[in-house]
Amino acid sequence: MKGILLAGGRGTRLYPLTMGVSKQLLPVYDKPMVYYPLSMLMLAGISEVLIISTPEDLPQFRRLLGSGEAWGMKFSYIEQAQPRGLADAFILGRDFVEDQPSSLILGDNIFYGTGLWDYLKTASRLTEGAQVFAYPVRNPQDYGVIEFDEGGRALSLEEKPKHPKSRFAVPGLYFYDSKVTEIAANVKPSPRGEIEITDINRVYLELGQLQVQQLGRGIAWLDAGTHENLLQAANFVQAVEERQGLMIGCPEEVAYRMGFISREQLITLANHLRQSSYGNYLLSVVEDL
Ligand code: TTP
Repeated sequence: MKGILLAGGRGTRLYPLTMGVSKQLLPVYDKPMVYYPLSMLMLAGISEVLIISTPEDLPQFRRLLGSGEAWGMKFSYIEQAQPRGLADAFILGRDFVEDQPSSLILGDNIFYGTGLWDYLKTASRLTEGAQVFAYPVRNPQDYGVIEFDEGGRALSLEEKPKHPKSRFAVPGLYFYDSKVTEIAANVKPSPRGEIEITDINRVYLELGQLQVQQLGRGIAWLDAGTHENLLQAANFVQAVEERQGLMIGCPEEVAYRMGFISREQLITLANHLRQSSYGNYLLSVVEDL
């Protein structure tokens, strides 16, 4: 399965923080925001990732992430000239995805919690249809909203509805079969002028091919799109890491645990970062196992 990391957009809600730096490169406590969603794709076993960002910001991503080889990954890069909408990932990513299933993650979405890895493993085995998640939030009107019947089956999907039919938002992590590029090519812009991922999901729903996994309260889904959320995300990561001595969203560690890189490769990576507590953490990962 291939992965797409969508890390463009304007980040207007974070002005002036994002006037000189890409939103997804801002720190969330001890690492760049983009490390968190990238680690999720890696946990799903995905090692080939297309990174999409704005023409101004893409060089910064290249500088940070490079070819991916050091993490046992393969990164490609493509510019999105305008933030046309999330569905654009599969128009820009058409050649990259080829005829394979793929997963899209948004560069400002952070997930953490028990059972997540099992969900990822299941979703990454998808060959037909689509799989999305549903998560209860206090402000569903800011997201794609999914309505369920009494049996827990998905009934409807609406993008940022004024009057949400449920509290369930669709988080920014999606899994699709190879039809997705064709479906995306036919999505028309919504009234707010964006090509919506919700419209892609609705096509799968109408085909009877949309699986929806509800994420329980044991899982945290954070989106770091506002000043408050960004600080909350940093505080959350700090609290968990401090208590457990384990990192959230550390790609080098995930690469090692997933078998993308060897022990020796992890030690080399750790030595480069030795001056920081992050580097020392990587060394502790090697020693523990
Ligand atoms: P949003 O949070 O909807 O948009 P934004 O990042 O531009 O922020 P703001 O509302 O503050 O202006 O986007 C969600 C994620 O998707 C975010 O990581 C940016 C990214 N994105 C793109 O890369 N391309 C796009 O066309 C859109 C709409 C979003």
